[in-house]
Amino acid sequence: MITEINLAIQEVIESSAFAGGPFVAAFEQDFAAYCGVPYALGVGSGTEALWLSLLACGVGPGDEVITVPSTFMATAEAITYCGARPVFVDVDERTYTIDPEGLPGALTKKTKAIIPVHLFGQPADMDPIVEFARKCGLCVIEDACQAHGAEYKGRRVGTLGDTACFSFYPGKNLGAFGEAGAIVTVSAELQDRIRILRDHGQVRKYFHSFVGWNCRMDGIQGAVLRIKLRHLEAGNQRRRAHAAHYDAALNQVGGLLTPVQASWARHVYHVYAIRVSNRDEVIKCLADRGIGTGIHYPVPVHLQEAYRSLGYKRGDFPVAERCAAQFVSLPMYPELTEAHLETVIDGARDAVARGVEI
Ligand SMILES: Cc1ncc(COP(=O)(O)O)c(C=O)c1O
Repeated sequence: MITEINLAIQEVIESSAFAGGPFVAAFEQDFAAYCGVPYALGVGSGTEALWLSLLACGVGPGDEVITVPSTFMATAEAITYCGARPVFVDVDERTYTIDPEGLPGALTKKTKAIIPVHLFGQPADMDPIVEFARKCGLCVIEDACQAHGAEYKGRRVGTLGDTACFSFYPGKNLGAFGEAGAIVTVSAELQDRIRILRDHGQVRKYFHSFVGWNCRMDGIQGAVLRIKLRHLEAGNQRRRAHAAHYDAALNQVGGLLTPVQASWARHVYHVYAIRVSNRDEVIKCLADRGIGTGIHYPVPVHLQEAYRSLGYKRGDFPVAERCAAQFVSLPMYPELTEAHLETVIDGARDAVARGVEI
């Protein structure tokens, strides 16, 4: 793959197609086909993908957008950057995705859209979300930044909402050689609006029909992603096999909760997060064996300092808060070997034996 990527980068350099251009267009075509939608638009990051989707759906000052507190900050930030207000609904205790039963309680006259987050690579339960949104006249924007290739009831994420947003941050299941993102949609109207918005509101060069921004994808990222896309499925399959290995070894261990693949889901395990009562001890015990771990995420968004002005308090979203206190992400990437997995499993078993039931 490295040789192919080097050649592709060389081609970009030789043609000087650095900003947008044919390499991005070719990747867009392949990524749209992969997702099973007519349109994909390359942008600078997943954050931009969310922001432009919201703008294209008409979200602006005074509006509210429903999402979850158990996500990366960018989901809520994009809402704030439109001048709108994020309104949170707690996640389900076992799937870690939005609990659709919380939607009616969060709805107000100002609600314009819902952003379900396919957290860790697990699709949210989209049927009741989309049904509720249609009934209430709301847009649905999938935050698929962690879920490239995940499926909901046999359909790829990206085909389920009005738009879906992907991040190609280097550590993602499909990662660029820098920052990049994409929006996919089945709507010709939304893709038209986003295409113009991402390029300074230009309908043609130097003719601006409205105020947009510069959110184009780099040519080099398009060229690299087009090659890496061909390996995404193999990578996802390996992640799923690693997750099955972890599950089998850890799901009977007391004091530890392994992730659950929902009945509707093909999970792609961007993150494999277990829940434990003694997180610091588990992290230290694994670090002592040379194993790196992560926490996704230590503070739920409604309790972030940046969102103090929203007026939320501890206890408002108990599931998200519990998860934030208990999550530990174990190593998860396609290249993990059986020996790696066994070392992690031994370390995790030892460490949680000193914790308590959760
Ligand atoms: C759930 C979620 N939403 C949005 C983003 C933002 O994507 P980016 O970092 O490409 O801007 C990320 C990236 O980590 C993410 O995990």
